[in-house]
Amino acid sequence: MQKIKVGIIGTGFIGPAHVEALRRLGFVDIVALADINEEVAKQKAELLNIEKYYGDYKSLLNDKEIEVVHVCTPNHLHYKISKEALLAGKHVVCEKPLAMNSFEGAELIKIAKEKKLVNAVNFNLRFYPLMHHARKIIESGELGKIFAVNGSYQQDWLFYETDFNWRLQPEFSGDSRAVADIGSHWLDLIEFVTSINVSSVCADFATFHSVRKKPLKPVETYSGKILSPEDYEDIEINTEDYATVLLRFNNGAHGSMTVNQVAAGRKNRLYFEIYGSKKAIGWNSERPNELWIGKRDGNNEVLVKDPSLLSPYAREIVSYPGGHNEGFPDTLKQMFAKFYKYIIRKGHIKGEPPEFPTFEDGYRELLLCEAIVKSAKSNKWIEIE
Ligand SMILES: NC(=O)c1ccc[n+]([C@@H]2O[C@H](COP(=O)([O-])OP(=O)(O)OC[C@H]3O[C@@H](n4cnc5c(N)ncnc54)[C@H](O)[C@@H]3O)[C@@H](O)[C@H]2O)c1
Repeated sequence: MQKIKVGIIGTGFIGPAHVEALRRLGFVDIVALADINEEVAKQKAELLNIEKYYGDYKSLLNDKEIEVVHVCTPNHLHYKISKEALLAGKHVVCEKPLAMNSFEGAELIKIAKEKKLVNAVNFNLRFYPLMHHARKIIESGELGKIFAVNGSYQQDWLFYETDFNWRLQPEFSGDSRAVADIGSHWLDLIEFVTSINVSSVCADFATFHSVRKKPLKPVETYSGKILSPEDYEDIEINTEDYATVLLRFNNGAHGSMTVNQVAAGRKNRLYFEIYGSKKAIGWNSERPNELWIGKRDGNNEVLVKDPSLLSPYAREIVSYPGGHNEGFPDTLKQMFAKFYKYIIRKGHIKGEPPEFPTFEDGYRELLLCEAIVKSAKSNKWIEIE
């Protein structure tokens, strides 16, 4: 079988996670990577054992043998690189957020359609098996009518004023930080699991560190060393560390989402509870193999991931038996499996609905995020267009 040839652009944290997941598929060949310059690209190519490397993403896009491109760079480059990749005839997997605004997102959808190319946005959290299962049990009516959806996504990696990353600079990250970076995952997951849509939002933002200390040395050169005050410059921060968003849904349900990137002790915790007229469910991404099922009459339950207990839809994305926990890296593998099998069976030519998040879903999150920012600025409820 001819393997599909892939190029990865951006090899910081998530790029290598894409590489690892793709290698586990077995029918995809990562032939090249690109990063910010030749030296970084060479180092990463050696580390990841990838044959070709480019210090400029345009050269990777000119590489004729590459059929699919993964965009794993900081946010401000997603639109530009995805657009050029589509125009070069490549299928695209883009990291979230799809673009810096919904106009750019809409243009990418249009180009992908015109060029008949397969496209995905990496909302990989849908691919925890229990999230596929939760979607099916809600679809079947087991929870009844959904009344309320509440939850949070909290992290502590930006806890100290000396914690610094490109995500703190709007020119690289966008107008919103916590909502765009992690709130987008929460909102995508909730709409996927419940099959209802957010119809209006009312947001309250906070920036706890209004000034942060940006290291004057590149991170990798100082890691492990103690910096002194003269090694930092003060940078004014104008994106949110924290947000609480009240939500109204198109079925009449109500909800709330809190995101916080300075939440001590919370490493990377996405949490939700969905309350229906018959039952409730709850899930925490730091214990992804357990789904809480809440009942008014009778004992509550915890469903432990086990393929024999899940719906056929969820079973399809389970690779290991019960008790063998699957986690974050598996979500990437399962999502890419759906994406690449769709290309192989020419789902886009046959007009089959994709079973993975596409640019349309990326666009939806841009619309939600824009409405949330507008609400925080105006102190008003904002309808989603
Ligand atoms: N789906 C998820 O769960 C998930 C998780 C983490 C990050 N992400 C997304 O992935 C993207 C990257 O995040 P990260 O944490 O890996 O960031 P990172 O800073 O660790 O890595 C970014 C990489 O892009 C490279 N880069 C910068 N400019 C470039 C250019 N012009 N050409 C080629 N490469 C360039 C950098 O050198 C670096 O290697 C972000 O958009 C983020 O939102 C998604």
